[in-house]
Amino acid sequence: MNTNSSKLKLALIFGGRSGEHEVSLNSAKSVLAALDMDKYDVLQIGITHDGAWMTGENALDVLSGELQEELEPVIFSPDPTQKGLYAIRNTQHEPLSDFDVVFPVMHGTYGEDGTMQGLLELADVAYVGVGVTGAAVGMDKGIFKDVMLANNIPVVDGVLVLRAEIENEMDAVIEEVEKLGYPVFVKPANMGSSVGVSKCDNRSSLSEGLLEAAQYDRRILVEHGVNAREIEIAVLGNDNPEASVPGEVKPSREFYSYESKYVDGTSGLMIPAPIPEKTAEAMRKIAVQAYKAIDCAGMARVDFLLDKESGEFYLNEVNTIPGFTEISMYPKLWDASGLPYPKLIDRLVELALERKAERDRIKRRY
Ligand SMILES: Nc1ncnc2c1ncn2[C@@H]1O[C@H](COP(=O)(O)OP(=O)(O)O)[C@@H](O)[C@H]1O
Ligand SMILES: [Mg+2]
Repeated sequence: MNTNSSKLKLALIFGGRSGEHEVSLNSAKSVLAALDMDKYDVLQIGITHDGAWMTGENALDVLSGELQEELEPVIFSPDPTQKGLYAIRNTQHEPLSDFDVVFPVMHGTYGEDGTMQGLLELADVAYVGVGVTGAAVGMDKGIFKDVMLANNIPVVDGVLVLRAEIENEMDAVIEEVEKLGYPVFVKPANMGSSVGVSKCDNRSSLSEGLLEAAQYDRRILVEHGVNAREIEIAVLGNDNPEASVPGEVKPSREFYSYESKYVDGTSGLMIPAPIPEKTAEAMRKIAVQAYKAIDCAGMARVDFLLDKESGEFYLNEVNTIPGFTEISMYPKLWDASGLPYPKLIDRLVELALERKAERDRIKRRY
């Protein structure tokens, strides 16, 4: 239990079953290094690739493969009357630790898609970042686009197809998709880090791209490909979110693919993005509007495609748990906007506690 009442006990959760497991470990390392140990008691909770929950003083190093050490298998209780982390010892569950706030530093499925947030809501704990709805809508590229359209936020034209349609009626799918005009981008609806995303210039690469994306999801989004610059804005806050200066990504490849994000190491970031002031202002306004539209909280990175020819821009996606290493776009944008990395973490924790207090005001019985 919380031994030192002047410090906040923060549970850092990382890893997980998603394809972005390693990305999460990198983000968590930076967060851990920046947490002020005079303010926080940190409890490390690692989730393995298989979904096993583990704790230990060096859990992050163990999951990263940098250290070999036994970790303690634990269960995170969803029961608010039996709060906290339980160790499994001799088939008994023993209370191990409680905490004041949880920071889930997990990207993609089972971390950023509302499932983790659902558990944290059930457990009735304060946690950093987006809630269930914002996470789920932000994760699903198909539903997200519909919500943007309903809010008159500009998005690229797209068609949503099901894996079953790809498998059983490929010709009809291709006919429908070709109305968008080549090139097209094919993407699994619920993924991140560009996994399963391909750019297709003709019919044969399109059918390959559809089959590839169908390996990662049962719903696939196909969009018209824009010859675009990629501009990103960091948003921070609960009911009154603020937008950072915009940054630009210069991908090392034809588009910002997985390799270009994590393998090459030569994709560049430009902060602030060299774009017209008017465009920057319009984007910042729309970033906040989109953030509110899907009911985000804490933080999100809002990504745009800026058409190189027309100068028009489209909102591409919202990442509700963006990459969080010190050299990631989200923290760098805040750093450039006057909020350095450790202060950003403090602010996110404050926002988590503030939102929990808001939630506690809700009348549960009638
Ligand atoms: N409609 C599009 N036009 C041009 N490029 C696109 C389009 N959609 C995606 N891309 C490219 O693919 C990358 C990954 O797509 P994105 O929708 O951001 O998925 P993820 O969630 O995997 O990051 C983008 O950063 C961009 O480089
Ligand atoms: Mg993206």
